[in-house]
Amino acid sequence: MDHFLYRDGALFAEDVAVADIAASVGTPFYVYSTATLERHYRLFEEALAGMPHLVCYAMKANSNLAVIRTLGNLGAGMDVVSIGEYLKAKAAGVPGDRIVFSGVGKTADEMRTALTGGIRQFNVESEPELLALNAVAMSLDQTAPVTIRVNPDVDAKTHEKIATGRKEDKFGIPISRARAIYAEAAALPGIEVVGIDVHIGSQLTDLAPFEQAYGKIAELTRQLRADGHNIRRLDLGGGLGIPYERSNSAPPLPLDYGAVIKRTLGDLDCEIEIEPGRLIAGNAGLLVSKVIYVKSGEDRKFLILDSAMNDLVRPSMYGSHHDIVPVNEPGPGLEPQPFDVVGPVCESGDTFAKQRLLPPVAAGDLVAFRSAGAYGAVMASEYNSRPLIPEVLVKGDQFAVIRARPSYDAMINRDSIPEWL
Ligand code: LLP
Repeated sequence: MDHFLYRDGALFAEDVAVADIAASVGTPFYVYSTATLERHYRLFEEALAGMPHLVCYAMKANSNLAVIRTLGNLGAGMDVVSIGEYLKAKAAGVPGDRIVFSGVGKTADEMRTALTGGIRQFNVESEPELLALNAVAMSLDQTAPVTIRVNPDVDAKTHEKIATGRKEDKFGIPISRARAIYAEAAALPGIEVVGIDVHIGSQLTDLAPFEQAYGKIAELTRQLRADGHNIRRLDLGGGLGIPYERSNSAPPLPLDYGAVIKRTLGDLDCEIEIEPGRLIAGNAGLLVSKVIYVKSGEDRKFLILDSAMNDLVRPSMYGSHHDIVPVNEPGPGLEPQPFDVVGPVCESGDTFAKQRLLPPVAAGDLVAFRSAGAYGAVMASEYNSRPLIPEVLVKGDQFAVIRARPSYDAMINRDSIPEWL
């Protein structure tokens, strides 16, 4: 459920008409709903009730400071994958002891900044990273709290580009080598092993791969404890999928996911961490865009919008579906028509949807892409010298611009021309 609903034919974000935001900030823009962000976070809290836990929002999904602050105020931890994300979490007011640091390529500089600023744990992904972290921690006279990410060789049955838990993927250490690497870690003076980490992929719409992976983690926990390691924390990653196509998809709910965690790992007396990103932010955001032209091709109609693949890359990059809805519902009795929905960028890949059935729309009309709150703004670029678009946060009947649209001058002046030119 989200808080983007029609009232008398006009699309609202909570109690604010989307058209009013468009009139104020111009199009295109992203708009997020506070109530939806908060609701989704609480669903995970409820799903893990009764177990010691921390929900660490995966900031990569949407790392606007206002979004981080909204979730941080509820007590959320953060999963970061770069020192940029770490510094954003701190800037939004999240304390270091609620931040976990994931990622296959952490540099010594990043490790140093996180250790100095405070960190809950590093999720270490390889032996060389373990050794590098040990050296950094020793140089600071500290010990780094560590989980080791294991690759359980489980197929998450999701899009090829976002599956991460198969043995051919670059993530984690092979589960078959885990005992040897934990023994190595235990001998390093700068490292304190606190648990195990796993993340098998994103947009999972079936719980079976989670169940399989978490079963392997339960077994590994027992083995490592028998080997003498104090395994007290399990970071289970993110990945629970969302319904991108409202008409025909109903992925499992956080409560069902929580039941899998309780069933597979509930008797181990471990603190559970999860790292959901998409489920918290995805359906809490819209991308709102204006129709520039309706163009008739040889055999089809193109809806040319003022947003493009540089603003929302998911359809071009993964072939993803986003529901597209009119901001003002058309009157009754109008038959939907098929449109190819495209942006102004100069490549055919700049296509949001092919032959999508939409109510008749005309130049100047506003449309909204649903489920655009996660992996939307964060993946945007300025390709074709199109400045990044604004982000707006709604709470009840108020809205605020949480990232302003840069001026063309600001974009141009970021470059510099050497004196010899
Ligand atoms: N933890 C780790 C270690 C991850 O790599 C990810 C996502 C998450 C948590 C959060 O997963 P989520 O709950 O959001 O599924 N750009 C792609 C998604 C990439 C996901 C990368 N890792 C997309 O637009 O679909």
